[in-house]
Amino acid sequence: MPRIAYVNGRYVAHAEASVHIEDRGYQFADGVYEVCEVARGYIVDMKRHLDRLDRSLRELSIAWPMNRAAMEIVILEVIRRNRVKNGLVYLQVTRGVASRDFLFPAGTRPSVVVTARKVDPAAAAKRAENGIKVITVPENRWDRVDIKSVGLLPNVLAKQKASEAGAQEAWFIDADGTVKEGGSSNAWIVTGDGALVTRPAEHGILRGITRTTLLDVAAKLGLRVEERGFTVAEAKAAREAFISSATTLAMPVVAIDGAPIANGHPGSVVLSLRQAFFDIAEKRPA
Ligand code: PDD
Repeated sequence: MPRIAYVNGRYVAHAEASVHIEDRGYQFADGVYEVCEVARGYIVDMKRHLDRLDRSLRELSIAWPMNRAAMEIVILEVIRRNRVKNGLVYLQVTRGVASRDFLFPAGTRPSVVVTARKVDPAAAAKRAENGIKVITVPENRWDRVDIKSVGLLPNVLAKQKASEAGAQEAWFIDADGTVKEGGSSNAWIVTGDGALVTRPAEHGILRGITRTTLLDVAAKLGLRVEERGFTVAEAKAAREAFISSATTLAMPVVAIDGAPIANGHPGSVVLSLRQAFFDIAEKRPA
């Protein structure tokens, strides 16, 4: 079955889908995006993802390409046309197509692309059973990473470096030695006395939707949460470490820079969070 993408008002064959060469997303990374999980035939946390999209667009003064209700219909339609029961939806909005000039173009319509793809849930479960490895890299991004912008070159380079080191994620480390977040995920640890620790999302990281929902899950499970920075040394000595994102959910980290966390196997707290996530997250039939 051919994949279908939504591009600026039309559903088109994914293989032929394209945007103009003068799209500002292409030339300036002048755009924002969202990635939502689809699980068991439901789109997960769509409301929170669209709320964050709204915030990202506002921060960059990019208009919604259509109203929010229409966007929801497009997202659900792309999932339906691609018959995705388990997988991901990718949504990108740029400032649109205009002759190359740094200033915002007047009267240009934003460009919008929505794609969806299947992910094998068994493969994801397997990854969670084994856990992942992370490396650390110095923070070298701009200070507006709270905006989910498509300008991801530092993230690309950091994740490529991780991959070349046999790891699956890179953690950006602040000048003060604290962990900011991953190249495409938020970072967490579990302390010796069982508290969940994750950096406050007020500044310097993306406020992950999975992170927000995991805070709900933690409350439901009666887990104590400390929103504070933690150092690489504290993470290496932690009882557990894990990452969160729409593509990984809560995913155990079993080594940092080659040093195993605890016994080098996924911990029980992260696995219980992962287990409870779907029930507690917001779900819309897709
Ligand atoms: N990335 N931090 C960064 C830098 C991210 O790119 C992401 C998500 C997150 C987690 O956010 P959420 O829980 O809302 O997925 C944190 C997506 C998955 C991506 O770029 O593919």
